[in-house]
Order: sequence, then C-alpha cells, then structure tokens
Amino acid sequence: AINLHGRSILALEDFTSAEMRFLLDMAKELKSAKRGGFERQRLSGKNIVLIFEKDSTRTRSGFEVAAYDQGAHVTYMGPSGSHIGQSETVKDTARVLGRMYDAIEFRGFAQADVESLARHAGVPVYNGLTDESHPTQVLADFMTMREFTHKHLSDISFAFMGDGRNNMARSLAVGAAKMGMQFTIGAPRVLWPGAGFQEHVSKIAKTTGASIKYDDNAVAAVAGADFVYTDVWLSMGEDPAQWGERIKLLLPYQVNAALMRAAGNPFVKFMHCLPSFHNADTKMGKDIEIRYGVPAMEVSDEVFESAASIVFDQAENRMHSIKAILIATLG
Ligand code: CP
Ligand code: NVA
Repeated sequence: AINLHGRSILALEDFTSAEMRFLLDMAKELKSAKRGGFERQRLSGKNIVLIFEKDSTRTRSGFEVAAYDQGAHVTYMGPSGSHIGQSETVKDTARVLGRMYDAIEFRGFAQADVESLARHAGVPVYNGLTDESHPTQVLADFMTMREFTHKHLSDISFAFMGDGRNNMARSLAVGAAKMGMQFTIGAPRVLWPGAGFQEHVSKIAKTTGASIKYDDNAVAAVAGADFVYTDVWLSMGEDPAQWGERIKLLLPYQVNAALMRAAGNPFVKFMHCLPSFHNADTKMGKDIEIRYGVPAMEVSDEVFESAASIVFDQAENRMHSIKAILIATLG
C-alpha cells in the first residue's frame, strides 16, 4: 500500500511512479468530490505556512483554497514582511516554523533552500517552485493530460518548446521519464539542459522505457505530439537585460498556428503553466513589445485562445492536485 504520510515534496525525484499515479488518482477523486458537493474535510486543525520569495497567483491560491476546503488554516508570507532570507537563516526559520506549523510550502530561488527547510523543520515541506524545479505544477499537468486523452500516460507523446534549461523543462523531463512518456525539448542547443542533467534523466528513462529527446528543429520536435507545452522565455529571477538575446534565440520556437499544425495531430492540445506573455496586456509584455517589436512571445494569441488550449484546466488542476498532496502527506 502507498503511504505518503509525513513526506516532503522537494522534487519529482522524491516519488516512485506508483506514488505519482496514486496522487493523480486522488486528485481526480477530489475534483469530482468538490464538483459533486460531497467533499469530506480531512485536514481540520492543521496549520500550513506558505513562504513566497517570488510572486505567485496559481500556486498561492491553489494551496490556500485546497487548505480551506479541507478545513486547514494558512499563513501567507510574501517576498517581504518576514525575516526569511534577510535577517534570519533558512535553517533557523525552519526550526521556528516547524514548532508552530504542520507543514511548510516554499517558493524561492535556490533548490538548496527548500532542501534545507525540509532538513531542519521536522514537518513536511513542499516545493512551490525554485530556479531548478516545479514539481507540483507537473502533477497538475499530468492530471490535465489524463483528462484530455484516453491514453495512458506511458503512451503520451509531448514536446516542450522554449528555454530547455528552466524549472518547467527540467521538471517535465523528470516527470516524463518517471511515467514512461515520450518527451522532446525543442530548443536551440545553447538552451538545452546540461550534460549532467541529461544523463540523470536518461538513467530514470531506462527504468521505465521513456524516451527523452532534445531537438533544435522546432518542427521535428513537435511531430506526432499529443501536447505542445511552452513557458516564458525569461523566468522569475533572471536578468531582464537578457530579453533581446532570448527573443533572438527563441522566436523560431514560438508556439503559433503553423507549429501546432506541424504536430500533424488534429487532436493536439496546447499547454502552458502560466503566467504567459501571449499578448501585450501585461506591463512586462507591453515593455517588450515596445523595445523589441515582438507582440506575441512564447505563444501566439491565436493559439492561446484556440479550442486546443487547455491552460485554464491546468490552472484549476493546480488546486485539486495540491489538495491531494496535502491530504496524502498530512491527513
Ligand atoms: N504556474 C504557476 O506556478 O503560477 P504562479 O506563478 O501564478 O503560482
Ligand atoms: N519558468 C517560470 C515558471 C513560472 C510558473 C518561472 O520560473 O518564472
């Protein structure tokens, strides 16, 4: 039997594929329970602290609503307003919060910080995104893939287009390797993950029969894909001075109508963890449009708004899958 009680979730490497399937099944049940009005509270009396060194819309609301639905309480600590990372070490913070809270969510820069929290807090710690990984997002993404195809995860083929070294590309690669999927990172060579990471992922893939590839040809990368995934070209914490260069490198990998057609699959779906720069609505998007003349960034507005786009299903599923994590580790 699978038991995740007391476990931290720092990276997808922490799970076996059976444990991941267990969480995905549980998330699906929780979603129907909430929709059907028969959700049962299993976290009453629990207190969870949410630490955000970087901003968030989905991860924060996912954790908050999941906790409230289940009868737990949360405290939000934003990029300022606490001593974390300023006048107190992560290790001391961990030992303080571990005395008061039943669990800690952490979004920040260094993977080492979320690991240090977990080592010293004595309670489960959840990684809500670091520069290296975004494990809870991948859980929501795989849950969403299951909803939009009749295939088993191990029969699914998908591509990630864009910065192949970022947290999403890497976590999707690890997740795909664990679940035996066919996954291709479509990116220019300079934005492929390093050799050490590629080796790490191929070791996992060997145990499951997964296929993990890297391709600098955008059209070849998406061929036969069930899902085409992308993410911002510059992640939180990266220097905005790099925009010009990133745009030059990544424009051929933009997910637009032509690239979606290149998948050669009439049922292909578009995915994005969000937030996205698909139009100039955002302050950042506007600034980029003015400076570089590129109104649509990683995805064209047309694809983002098309019937193939399942980005808001992914966003909703953040909450259901986070709820599964909370119940499995704390309930
Ligand atoms: N996808 C995601 O993590 O979004 P937020 O930055 O809004 O939490
Ligand atoms: N790669 C993005 C993901 C946001 C959810 C970032 O780190 O900013």
